Amino acid sequence: MPFPSLSALLRAQEGFRANFNSTPSVIARSPGRVNLIGEHTDYNEGFVLPIALPFDTVIAASPHKGSTVTVHSEGFGTVNFDLDRDPSETPDWARYLHGVGVFLRSTGKPISGWTGYIASDIPSGANLASSAALEIAAGLIFCTLSDVAIDPKQLARCGQHVENHIFGLPSGIMDQWICSLAKQDQALLIDCRTLSTEPVKIPEEVALIIMDTGTRRDLTGTEYANRRATCKRVATELNVTALRDATLEDLAPISSINATWSKRARHVISENNRTLKAFSALQSGDSILLGKLMVESHRSLATDYEVSSPALNKIVDTALENPDCLGARMTGGGFAGCAVALVKSENVDHFCDEVSSTFTAPDTQPAVAPTRVYPVRAAAGASII
Ligand code: GLA
Repeated sequence: MPFPSLSALLRAQEGFRANFNSTPSVIARSPGRVNLIGEHTDYNEGFVLPIALPFDTVIAASPHKGSTVTVHSEGFGTVNFDLDRDPSETPDWARYLHGVGVFLRSTGKPISGWTGYIASDIPSGANLASSAALEIAAGLIFCTLSDVAIDPKQLARCGQHVENHIFGLPSGIMDQWICSLAKQDQALLIDCRTLSTEPVKIPEEVALIIMDTGTRRDLTGTEYANRRATCKRVATELNVTALRDATLEDLAPISSINATWSKRARHVISENNRTLKAFSALQSGDSILLGKLMVESHRSLATDYEVSSPALNKIVDTALENPDCLGARMTGGGFAGCAVALVKSENVDHFCDEVSSTFTAPDTQPAVAPTRVYPVRAAAGASII
């Protein structure tokens, strides 16, 4: 396992001691996530089927009098910010923390400052929800140190608020919901309209493999927002609340929907159907069908929604050449980062060796980090350690 959770935990504890010469009062962890299927459906009030990853972002912290936070990140250095000031003044990564604190305060919670150290085993920009993990871990720290109650659902909404209103990224709820509410050893079908969830086990005979192309993206780019805006326009044209309510038959007769919009909507509508089928396939232990649906999902994301990338397409094709691979697809927002594969459990090692030794990122999309291919099991959601 290239990102063992224990190491982020130990590094956070050690880092706190080395930087602040004392033992932290509280340690919080939040996992990242990988989505098995149901991509770009959350903001269309549809269905998603993610798991939480067995590696974390960890914050070790002690309370601090007043409204200031002093935080050291092993990757990004030290930042101070004041909860009485606007988060836009705080540099990049620390703005996630500042945004969480300010939002919690705006809901009436008496949040005060702290001193902390952050270590993470979740690569950023890899589509494994590193920013959601940071938001959720920060929310737990703020509330625990200030002795304020918060439930996992509020925590998830707080994280999404920070993405939407502090960073201006109109993301859905999937990442924060799974990081906060995940169940050990289970995938979670999330209905992003009602936010009801149904857990389902991954059959023993298959393993989930993260395939990191080593390419990275910045989701704050305009493509994500464009896709979301298009979906909204099509829903309005179809006279439905969200694309969740539309069928493929609804699309054809509407002349005001151009070919591109129609492709985008076709992805969302068909992906919602695939996600529900994938959930049933997991329930009945039909891994072959799950694999097929994952491949269909990838093709739809690549050709209809156009959020895949040369590196993601290449690693998915490489994986599918292996006879032990039942399915593979890009995961998360897309454009770079990681894909996920479904592989027969008995041949996981061979699959991982083969894909990591044959894959190289294409010249059109060079890697900035090493290729990593490794199995993951579904972990539990965020917690205080
Ligand atoms: C990002 C967003 C999620 C979701 C995915 C695509 O991870 O944060 O809300 O929209 O992209 O499924």
